[in-house]
Amino acid sequence: MSWFTKALKSSVGKKFVLGLTGLALVGFLIEHLVGNLLLYKGADSFNGYAHMLESSELILPAELGLLALFLVHIVLAITVTVGNKSARPEVYSMYASKGGRTLASKTMIYTGILIFVFLVLHLVHFRFGVQSLDAEGRRNLYAAVLALFRSPVYVAWYVLAVCLVGLHVSHGFQSALRSIGVNHPKYAPALEALSLLFGFLFAIGFSSFALWAHFFKGGS
Ligand code: HEM
Repeated sequence: MSWFTKALKSSVGKKFVLGLTGLALVGFLIEHLVGNLLLYKGADSFNGYAHMLESSELILPAELGLLALFLVHIVLAITVTVGNKSARPEVYSMYASKGGRTLASKTMIYTGILIFVFLVLHLVHFRFGVQSLDAEGRRNLYAAVLALFRSPVYVAWYVLAVCLVGLHVSHGFQSALRSIGVNHPKYAPALEALSLLFGFLFAIGFSSFALWAHFFKGGS
């Protein structure tokens, strides 16, 4: 643990840990996106998958770990952003992308705050809000997804929020790699492209669930 507290004392160390937590959150998003694809297989697959996760002994440590990741990420993100604002411009430029600052890089704190609001609502609706059971006695998350996406307002908000997640990641992924020391100029264009690809995948992949539920599963 001492490397961790030591790392948090320097600005490079803070960026390192911010980068690690960001990458871990990207990993979580990949798992979440792949899991949600089971919606397309139907109620039994989706509720069965959710039930399998919820009844695992690992669910509590996994959820606590995820909560810790978010908390560390948010606290460090705010600390680094406030620090950057008062730092000399040349210190900041160390972290800017090669092609200069982009919309995504300039709005990290704003997209981050909106992602946080989205996250709280998402947990209220899906993690804590669904009590109804399916015929097998499992939480009927499939029905809850279809019911929530019946509202065009909820669909619009959801699509906007996941596009902001995509924007955040489109800069965040490459920035995180730089923060942990993966910054060879030879690989920079490929990593920037990969970062953009992740951003698009999250925005389009998560939006697709809301649009599919609304337009093809009786929402509209
Ligand atoms: C699923 C959710 C999230 C993912 C996948 C994610 C991912 C990332 C990644 C990969 C980075 C780059 C780290 C680096 O440059 O070393 C980053 C930076 C950042 N994140 Fe997040 N993040 C998420 C949620 C949040 C939330 C809720 C906030 C709320 C404040 C936030 C605020 C920020 C800020 C301000 C930065 C830039 C800090 C800087 O270098 O100036 N993020 N995020």
